[in-house]
Amino acid sequence: MTLTVTPSQQACGAAVSGVNLSQPVDAATIAAIRTAWLKHHVLAFPDQLLSDDDLERFTLYFGSFGEDPFIAPIPGRQHIIAVERRADERSSLFAETWHSDWSFQARPPAGTCLYGITIPPVGGDTLFANQHAALDAMPDALRKRLEGRMAIHSAKRAYAPDGLYGKGDTTRARAMVIRPSKEAENTERHPLIRKHPETGREGVFGCFGYIIGIEGMADAEAMPLLMELYQWQSREAFQYRHRWQPNMLVMWDNRSLLHAATGGYAGHHRLLHRTTIAAA
Ligand code: SIN
Repeated sequence: MTLTVTPSQQACGAAVSGVNLSQPVDAATIAAIRTAWLKHHVLAFPDQLLSDDDLERFTLYFGSFGEDPFIAPIPGRQHIIAVERRADERSSLFAETWHSDWSFQARPPAGTCLYGITIPPVGGDTLFANQHAALDAMPDALRKRLEGRMAIHSAKRAYAPDGLYGKGDTTRARAMVIRPSKEAENTERHPLIRKHPETGREGVFGCFGYIIGIEGMADAEAMPLLMELYQWQSREAFQYRHRWQPNMLVMWDNRSLLHAATGGYAGHHRLLHRTTIAAA
């Protein structure tokens, strides 16, 4: 099989063909996929008819399973969650703000795999923002205010009992089984600008949302700075808009990207299965 990698021509992202992921893949092909992943940050594999076993096997080519807190796994699986929204659902959209998956963990996951099962005919794109490009193009004045700073990450705004998916959310019959917890109030620190652990390339890591403050900086200064950074790092110039198809597998690099779900598919069911790849 010959792997064909076709860049999106946007700020990141490529489509990959020439591999059948429903079968075990040889080491050379896995290495080629990893090289393409590190280069393009998001890879889409269209036309892959995958079972949950296949999705798990693919994930484990790139590391062990990451830990997915606050969301119940699908029945019979420990490491797969369903990203799902029913056709008649009225709850707030899951993951609609920019984020790097689970950046509030001590060792945030290297990557995420998401497999499209039921894909609406309109809307539901996933946006990605290249955080190497965001840093490369950043005005010096903004960069100087971030250099050497440690961000404080926490899941509390989303998953604490009084967070977005907490008590106030339960009456709205969400398809996804979200489990708010006091544990979401824990914090971890990560550099705002850091080197990608595999490529060594510098980028911005995380954003306002899971970032709740900056170490050693009063909120009166930190919040406007984080908002200014958020506006910068999510600019259209750094984005790739991913359009889903059924039976499409996408893997992305949480160490170099932000991503955000989008709506626009009210009245349609959307279902994807997700795994995370732990940090090495
Ligand atoms: C996610 O952040 O994993 C969900 C992305 C999406 O639903 O498009």
